[in-house]
Amino acid sequence: MKLLKIQKRFLNSSCNVKNVISEASEFCEPYENIPGPKPLPLLGNSWRFLPLIGNFQIQHIDKVSINLYKKYGKIVKMQGLLGRPDMIFLFDPDEIEKVFRKEDSMPLRPSMPSLNYYKHVLRKEFFGEQGGIIAVHGINWQKFRSKVNQIMLQPKSARLYSKVISQTAEEFVQRIKQLRNQDLEMPDGFLNEIHRWSLESLARIALDIRMGCLDANPPQDTQKLIDSINTFFINVPILELKIPFWRLFNTPTFVEYINALDCIKEICLKYIKQSMDNLDWQVEENQLSVMQKVLKRHKNVKLASILALDLFLVGVDTTSNAIASILYQLAINPEKQQILHQEIDKLLPNPNSELTLENLDQMSYLKACIKETMRLYPVVIGNGRETSIDSIIGGYHVPKGVQIIFQHYVISNQDVYFKKSNQFIPERWLLNQKNHHPFASLPFGFGKRMCLGKRFAELEIQTLLAKIIRNYKIEYHRDKLDYFIHPMYTPNGPLNLKFVNKM
Ligand code: HEM
Repeated sequence: MKLLKIQKRFLNSSCNVKNVISEASEFCEPYENIPGPKPLPLLGNSWRFLPLIGNFQIQHIDKVSINLYKKYGKIVKMQGLLGRPDMIFLFDPDEIEKVFRKEDSMPLRPSMPSLNYYKHVLRKEFFGEQGGIIAVHGINWQKFRSKVNQIMLQPKSARLYSKVISQTAEEFVQRIKQLRNQDLEMPDGFLNEIHRWSLESLARIALDIRMGCLDANPPQDTQKLIDSINTFFINVPILELKIPFWRLFNTPTFVEYINALDCIKEICLKYIKQSMDNLDWQVEENQLSVMQKVLKRHKNVKLASILALDLFLVGVDTTSNAIASILYQLAINPEKQQILHQEIDKLLPNPNSELTLENLDQMSYLKACIKETMRLYPVVIGNGRETSIDSIIGGYHVPKGVQIIFQHYVISNQDVYFKKSNQFIPERWLLNQKNHHPFASLPFGFGKRMCLGKRFAELEIQTLLAKIIRNYKIEYHRDKLDYFIHPMYTPNGPLNLKFVNKM
């Protein structure tokens, strides 16, 4: 008890953690004592991902995480994944909050070494020192992000794009009509259709370009772009978590990954160039796309292009998988969907009523449905930071350079943090009923490195959802879908949702 109190004092003290470490070390447990699966000589813990003998599956990292929590508790050490520093899995929102609150000015998210290699070695001649945002750290990340933060994260920034976001959502609502079969169900490739909406929407926001993704016959390169982004997300965890043979030779997964990244770069650059050519330097900034704004402000073609590339890399699948998941949850929870219909129909009395930002501001149940889906099934199930100094985490001494992985999905599905956590209860997010731990569900991350596209993603999702719910009742009559990481945490299956016209 006494030991705990002393420890708490150190944790709450405002002095630099580094300075207290030597004094604190005798009061906190040593790093070696953090529980976790024991590594084998030579193979470390990497063997656990091997077929036949291992019990860790890349597509089911969610289940791996749950099992580790059940076996070892709120803090788990995963060492000996070949090619990676040690990882500490944190299943405790209090500890996660402390790590976030102590973040320095350049927080380091455990980088994707494979993307780092692509940007800084393989394609160095293109990216140069800048690299962009994703898989970039330190001063280069800070310089880059400071140039785009205000343009992307100010509350009003996304609202400037509400018109193009709304038009794209409207096109998708119309496309749903063409896609329905005679039973009013979506075809097997419905998730791909949602990716098309997401890509079109981002192209309008980031570049002010119509790619034509929602046309009956979309340009071939748009589908190639979607496929390549998918390949990127599918191959990343394989390259990061399994034995990294790609560091020694060109494995098929690595070659596929590099080809996908090259393809994303090539196709995006074509549209980026088009957007740059279209830029009217006299036009007021408010009327420009995100990339054009950056170009106009900083007069740096490379900076603007690399930003746009990063946005396409991570801003398409994330948003579309979120929409797929929300639609599915509403379909399998019809009584909650009914409440949403009532909210939206009241604000938009007929199907042609214009959806305004003021309407959206009043749709609190709609936002609650989005948050509740992201709690149950966050598209990014875990996030992380690398420690830049020695720290005390969960009562243990953790040295500099360890990767702390925040296990958001496991935490936000526990009854201690959300009562009846396995049920879809959007009401828990309504203001008068909100009483959860602020770090128990963080779908967009937190702090200086939080999601740069959060405001855009939220507005895109809210707008599309409001329009769909105003026009259709969504049903689902097939076998229940399991969630699967492939490449995001998504209902795995053909997603044959049924869209019934509303009056
Ligand atoms: C539902 C949709 C989305 C979800 C759930 C999501 C989630 C996340 C998360 C969890 C992070 C890590 C944050 C952290 O480390 O604290 C992140 C980073 C990022 N996201 Fe998103 N994201 C979404 C959509 C988007 C969109 C639409 C864009 C671009 C338009 C975008 C751009 C980025 C960028 C550039 C970063 C890296 C930020 C940095 O490292 O400084 N995201 N996102």
